[in-house]
Amino acid sequence: MSRPTPETRLVLGIESSCDETAAAVVIGTRVVGATVATQHELHEEYGGVVPEIASRAHLERMLPVVRAAIAAAGIRLHDVDAVAVGHRPGLIGALLVGTSAAKALALGLGVPFIGVDHVHAHLVSGLLHDREAPAPSNPELPAIGLVLSGGHTSIYRVEELTRPVLLGRTIDDAIGEAFDKVAAMLGLGHPGGPGVERLASKGNPDALDLPIANLGRGRVDFSYSGLKTAVRYAIQGVPGREGDHRAVDPADVAASFQKAAIGAVRRNLRRAIAAHPDTASLLVGGGVVANRSVREMLESECAEAGIECRLPSLDWSQDNGAMIAALGGLRLAQGESDELELAPAATTRDDRTIPTPPAS
Ligand code: KG4
Ligand code: ZN
Repeated sequence: MSRPTPETRLVLGIESSCDETAAAVVIGTRVVGATVATQHELHEEYGGVVPEIASRAHLERMLPVVRAAIAAAGIRLHDVDAVAVGHRPGLIGALLVGTSAAKALALGLGVPFIGVDHVHAHLVSGLLHDREAPAPSNPELPAIGLVLSGGHTSIYRVEELTRPVLLGRTIDDAIGEAFDKVAAMLGLGHPGGPGVERLASKGNPDALDLPIANLGRGRVDFSYSGLKTAVRYAIQGVPGREGDHRAVDPADVAASFQKAAIGAVRRNLRRAIAAHPDTASLLVGGGVVANRSVREMLESECAEAGIECRLPSLDWSQDNGAMIAALGGLRLAQGESDELELAPAATTRDDRTIPTPPAS
């Protein structure tokens, strides 16, 4: 039997960092089978993800989800050539479930074990394609990478897909978290992004003048807590001055919030591109990329800057096992894998190694 090469290697990817239990089998960036079991219904009544409930649900669902992904791929477990897992960052109890399952499977199958950073994996989600679809060309590098999710809002310089370098990130709430909190204030369900988007489509984005935090000239960090507070005051009135408060249309609140939240991303993207004029493409990932206004803004910014825009399809923008498997496969192709001692970690190892020069 011939040895598998990077072009034929079947990589199983496992994801359990938050509230999605997911597994997928990929060959390179081709997804041959994938399953996602979402826990949204378990956390809805709490308005946010409850870590202990998430861990227990991952434990119950992990093996059925892996089996389903293997079945969808039309292979047997023994055909798998490597097992990758998102081992950081995330909820530690949730990560432990996926990491332990991945280690046990790799050990049992006698194949390499690879831990990947969940946030970095979002950056390759725009390269994934379904088994029948033709493989897209590799993205031109260097790229700017943007992750817009419920837990992260980060911007990267990507010279190598396996080693993105952080340029900036949120100093408080993530953009998706801001959508979720605004949804809770407006009495919409959890996760709140889709509900806010739907309501925003009926409102006037210029009805309220909401703040976009600017953390310094040329800086590409984000802050969403001030915006969130401004939305709260718009809905409830400023504490101590409730008497002056005038009722606002919830649709106008949603539309104005969405405009400001997206405006912060646009401004930082422009700054990052200006600071790195050799940027050839934009790699994007994270659940918030499902938002139509976000996608339109990113596409138009890329067109204006003359760079390629790699948006993931809606299937792969949210947490999934395929992006984990694809990034694991890239590391494997570079001859890298991890020891079974690799520990899950709640935080990412991202470091500021490129200072962002001030942009004009
Ligand atoms: O990437 P993801 O599935 O999980 C994390 O790693 O966080 O992202 C989930 C986030 C949630 O905050 C959710 O509200 C947001 O993505 N989201 C959206 C939309 N769909 C999901 N935000 C804005 N508009 C949407 N259509
Ligand atoms: Zn994620």
